Amino acid sequence: MSDEKRFVLHTWTKQSEWNGPTIVGGAGAWFWDDQGRRYLDLSSQAECCNLGHQHLAVVRAIQEQAGRLCYISNAWGAQPRAELARRIVAIANQNPEDRTQKTEDGAQGAEYGIERAQSQIQNPKSKTQNPVYGRVFFTCDGAEATEHAIKMARWVTGRRKIISRYRSYHGATHAALSVSGDPRGRNVTDGLRDVARVLPPYCYRCPFGLRYPDCALRCADHVEAVIQQEGPDTVAGLIAEPAAGTNGIAAPPEYWPRLREICNRYGILLIADEVMSGFGRCGAWFAWQAQSATQAGELPCPDLFTMAKGLTGAHIPLGAICVAEHVASHFDEHALETGLTYSGHPLACAAGVAAIQAYADEGLIERAARLGAWMFEQLRAMRRRHACIGDVRGLGLFACVEMTENTFPQPLPWLKQLARAALQRGVNVAVRGNLMFVCPPLVIEQGDLEWGLSVIDELLPQGSSI
Ligand SMILES: Cc1ncc(COP(=O)(O)O)c(C=O)c1O
Repeated sequence: MSDEKRFVLHTWTKQSEWNGPTIVGGAGAWFWDDQGRRYLDLSSQAECCNLGHQHLAVVRAIQEQAGRLCYISNAWGAQPRAELARRIVAIANQNPEDRTQKTEDGAQGAEYGIERAQSQIQNPKSKTQNPVYGRVFFTCDGAEATEHAIKMARWVTGRRKIISRYRSYHGATHAALSVSGDPRGRNVTDGLRDVARVLPPYCYRCPFGLRYPDCALRCADHVEAVIQQEGPDTVAGLIAEPAAGTNGIAAPPEYWPRLREICNRYGILLIADEVMSGFGRCGAWFAWQAQSATQAGELPCPDLFTMAKGLTGAHIPLGAICVAEHVASHFDEHALETGLTYSGHPLACAAGVAAIQAYADEGLIERAARLGAWMFEQLRAMRRRHACIGDVRGLGLFACVEMTENTFPQPLPWLKQLARAALQRGVNVAVRGNLMFVCPPLVIEQGDLEWGLSVIDELLPQGSSI
């Protein structure tokens, strides 16, 4: 028995069933094991290696920062921490028209974002309903970002309740799992009180039995109905994944702006969980930026949004919350009664700065949108060839392929076998229940992606749906 199997407890699995190869290296969309077998990564591991494996500029930035200063606590300033916060705020504040402009530090349109934020903060009269992002709170991962977003929403509004969705995932810590509407959280029976869940915008198997777009988004009306039942003045925040997640929900583009409008009506803080959908995964820096405008023509900006995974391309663990100034300024005169030893760890922040620079320098956000459009064409063609595929949905380089057999969250045995067979042939693809996720690194060569998809195509059960 290997030391790995003997001594390590592995996540989300029966230990007796764990049987992973030992990985010793990687480059771009490929990684390899200690037996010399190579694997094409169509899942970006846990949808986090957006820059591929061992991105040279990020590795170099970590090495350089390690040579200068590995750690200093949050009581002190740290240059990479400040720089990363500035860049996140800048990207968040970009106008859509700024996003294609390149500036010297590589973060497209970033300086415009800072200028826009500063002028709006200094001149409140010019304030629209759009939040202006002002500051960043750093955590070590996505779950901690969820935890702190919940705490902030409660402190700032003075209300307790959090609305979240069935079929959502916000992390495995206690509070994060209890706001998650994920089957994995069902055993967290003593989780957070004051959480109300709403049904998801799940068009393929609509919980309301309707069809998009004739439904006029009944799922959004339902959110408002639940808020009214709960008592709007008791609801602090509404948390949701805008476009991608491990439950495979990808809402129509009008859904997110509807959430924004509902939250505006009741003074509820809208919290976007961008842990998986951020940093190009959905073809934009953040998936909320790719949604439709509200009826008032505003960008549907959340009041807080969380991030992790792609923030460093998973080179070092790091999470963050980008906080609108109207929320962050609450803490100017009220102490921020929370903290983490590693909040804004300099090594992780240096990786984050280098990652953002790499996304911008290599045009990876636009590439994800372009290559994603091509990938969706291939997957939709695959759906026409294979009757077992019921739906293909997603955005950018996040694709969820749902099978017609509905076993979720229980595994679909043949799909599990397909993933095993693909791995034998050198293709790593993620499956869960009756869902298959195709989420390659943004740097994947198109030819490699084509080959990976052809392996899946060959392994899918035969039988045309047309
Ligand atoms: C949408 C979303 N939120 C939060 C998390 C939790 O992030 P972490 O595993 O870094 O704690 C995940 C992890 O997959 C996620 O997909």
